[in-house]
Amino acid sequence: MLIRRSPDILPSEITDQDLYLNRRKFLTVAGVTLGAALVGGKTAPAFSALPPSMAVGESLLAAPSAFPNLRKSPLSARESPNSLRDITTYNNFYEFGTDKADPAQNAHTLVTRPWTVRIDGEVKRAQSVDVGTLMRWSPPEERIYRLRCVEAWSMVIPWVGLPLAAIIQRAEPTSRAKYVEFTTLNDPKQMPGQRRGVLDWPYVEGLRMDEAMHPLSILAVGLYGDILPNQNGAPLRLVVPWKYGFKSGKSIVRIRFTEQQPVTSWSKAAPGEYGFYANVNPAVDHPRWSQAKERRLGEFTKRPTLPFNGYAEQVASLYSGMDLRRFF
Ligand code: MTE
Repeated sequence: MLIRRSPDILPSEITDQDLYLNRRKFLTVAGVTLGAALVGGKTAPAFSALPPSMAVGESLLAAPSAFPNLRKSPLSARESPNSLRDITTYNNFYEFGTDKADPAQNAHTLVTRPWTVRIDGEVKRAQSVDVGTLMRWSPPEERIYRLRCVEAWSMVIPWVGLPLAAIIQRAEPTSRAKYVEFTTLNDPKQMPGQRRGVLDWPYVEGLRMDEAMHPLSILAVGLYGDILPNQNGAPLRLVVPWKYGFKSGKSIVRIRFTEQQPVTSWSKAAPGEYGFYANVNPAVDHPRWSQAKERRLGEFTKRPTLPFNGYAEQVASLYSGMDLRRFF
């Protein structure tokens, strides 16, 4: 990173997503006092301390959860999550500005409902679905994952995620599908950062089919048990915890199955710096900085970065026989 260069929806598609999103409206109308609310058993930061756009995710601070009876996953990391404040105020989402504080300040202009995702390419039948449908295809689970940014900072985030494999199975890719491409919304009216040529918009990311089918890969719809805040990629964002954070495209509107490896935004912008695979690898430095260590938000000393971000046992076999210096 750090490169500075210059829907229509059918009523029948509006489903149980309405149910949980309506809670937000209720909270606003009821003027709920949020400051002392608990999140995940911990005291949440005072609401007044959060930036204005947190109104977008206001229900985050109110229990009970927007996702009742959320299944806890055995795939979760056994580490303490970062605070809600860290996770929602230190972001990369260049569609809303290139400083870490910009997305929290600016992402309130993103309209996340209604939201339709186009599923097409190498599939038996192209279709458009809403987030509620995806949630029925693949029920949400709590997944506490480490996130390691290529810029050498990291966090632990308690996502609410939909296992991607179940969604892919329902999408019915053909035998020609070898990759999955994920595309972010392209709308400079809602995403003012897209008026600047920082990247060739829209933001595109991709995975090999076996990576996308891996049990760790999810589409996040929430965090800390509640609806995903806009700055974290609402309403739907990819999370692949063994890869650098830039692989996790935010605010996804299209999932396309392809025979050829997708051309991804960062590998197009700086091919010598950001590869398609982008597996966390402390042994391969970024051309401009070391990847051996990382700064976990909230910690004073740097910690060593682990191969595949600590998920080597689960994912290293996906890359057996591959030269990970060449396929970085
Ligand atoms: N997705 C889009 N659409 N635009 C972006 O700028 N930044 C990526 C990724 N997804 C980005 C994006 C990067 S570099 C990182 S590290 C993560 O989002 C950060 O996610 P977070 O802000 O929720 O921590």
